[in-house]
Amino acid sequence: ASIQSMPTDVPASNRTQDRTAAQPAAARDSFTNTPDTDPSLAANRDWGDAIRSRMQSSTLGDETARANTLSDAAALEKVIATAASAGASWRALGAAGRAEILHRAGDILQARRAELLEVMGSECGKVLEQGDPEVSEAIDFAHYYAESAKRIENIDGATHKPVGLTVVTPPWNFPVAIPAGSTLSALAAGSPVIIKPARQARRSGAVMIEALWEAGVPRDVLQYVQFDRSLSPSKGLGAQLVSSPAVERVILTGGYETAELFRSFRPDLPLLAETSGKNAIIVTPSADLDLAAKDVAYSAFGHAGQKCSAASLVILVGSVAQSERFRRQLVDAVGSYRVGRPWEESTRIGPLIGPAEGKLLHVLTTLEPGESWVVEPERLDDDGALWRPGIREGVAAGSPFHLTEYFGPVLGVMTADSLEEATAMVNAIDYGLTSGLHSLDDDEIAQWLASVRAGNLYVNRGTTGAIVQRQPFGGWKKAAVGAGTKAGGPSYLIGLSDWEDAPVTA
Ligand code: SER
Repeated sequence: ASIQSMPTDVPASNRTQDRTAAQPAAARDSFTNTPDTDPSLAANRDWGDAIRSRMQSSTLGDETARANTLSDAAALEKVIATAASAGASWRALGAAGRAEILHRAGDILQARRAELLEVMGSECGKVLEQGDPEVSEAIDFAHYYAESAKRIENIDGATHKPVGLTVVTPPWNFPVAIPAGSTLSALAAGSPVIIKPARQARRSGAVMIEALWEAGVPRDVLQYVQFDRSLSPSKGLGAQLVSSPAVERVILTGGYETAELFRSFRPDLPLLAETSGKNAIIVTPSADLDLAAKDVAYSAFGHAGQKCSAASLVILVGSVAQSERFRRQLVDAVGSYRVGRPWEESTRIGPLIGPAEGKLLHVLTTLEPGESWVVEPERLDDDGALWRPGIREGVAAGSPFHLTEYFGPVLGVMTADSLEEATAMVNAIDYGLTSGLHSLDDDEIAQWLASVRAGNLYVNRGTTGAIVQRQPFGGWKKAAVGAGTKAGGPSYLIGLSDWEDAPVTA
């Protein structure tokens, strides 16, 4: 696990002043994080209003999404063969040649920020406040991996060799940053890519992929596919894709069950998967309770809780469990979030990706024995996608809510007598993706860091929104299948590479 704390702010001189002006190209040969849009500038607020006004009727990405739909095994085989044979010329560009194209891709993503925000809002319900840092992250991945590729091309006298044809299967909840990050990492390492964006996010994926093509990634090297939904089951093509012996690596971000399904298609599948999370923030009596309440609320309910990194539990230690002040702050923070459509300016929490169903609907509407609602979730629309978020307390150790990922707008409150007990509750969860501690006591922080088992540890900060290079992202335990390196970190491309010994010269 790596240790994360509050990110230092972007220097003022590096802030983008006005989104309506031409955006400066990122510096080559060095990496700095791309600043998010600064809403304190009136020009940027007008820019945001214009994006929202286009969201509701947006058709961005439609054309490309239709043009790449496959309906039979032969068509998919052709895509696989074309991508596999395009690998040699892509590798031959060398890290510097590929980096030039990736840097250009980063600049084009920046230039298309407004389109990306429009399509993410329209298709996936992302509000601008959530989508804007996601676009910054995608841009960061382009520039960061471009430079990483150059750095690792020759390590310790071994010659870098890309693993080869890589299949990318991203989720819908980060419809730009995750497909971009996975694709750019494989391309940077020198591998051709077949990407199949999640069906619910295919238009957002299409706009991102177009930006990479425009930057000069050949279409044979980066193939965008969707499967015809009328096929029954379309899983047949998915199984064919990941089972193909021509596929050397699959980068999956999705549920743990999907990783298991992929493995059932092909037991020896070379899989790099970031999967489910069930994440908690512990709050001790030494914490800044006002800050903790704000961070818990935002980590739990940003993008309606539909993040693998979201805080789904808050564990209150000792006297915090009795703190009326903390309780009120948390309830007020949650109550201040207006739930609505992403094109409405005041919306902070948008709709779920579809109607709540299955286990999510169950926890939005049902309590286990001993639990009660601090804030009861409320359905706000007919189709069941808009929910005022809920907070349940009395969640018992070992109960379903303690251990299950629900991926929606409901937070559970647990209590513990000591930090040690609280940390044991976190460690009892099968997934170890993100984990948070709010404490101002150095000894407590050190104790927690030494004993908690999760990939990304955040002290006095929310658990969502990892930042490329500063907070490389990846899990432990069942949150990471086949993965040993973290996205946006210094060794990620090493996991996408093989090595050839350098010839020995006399
Ligand atoms: N990287 C995202 C976050 O940190 C999750 O995928 O929130």
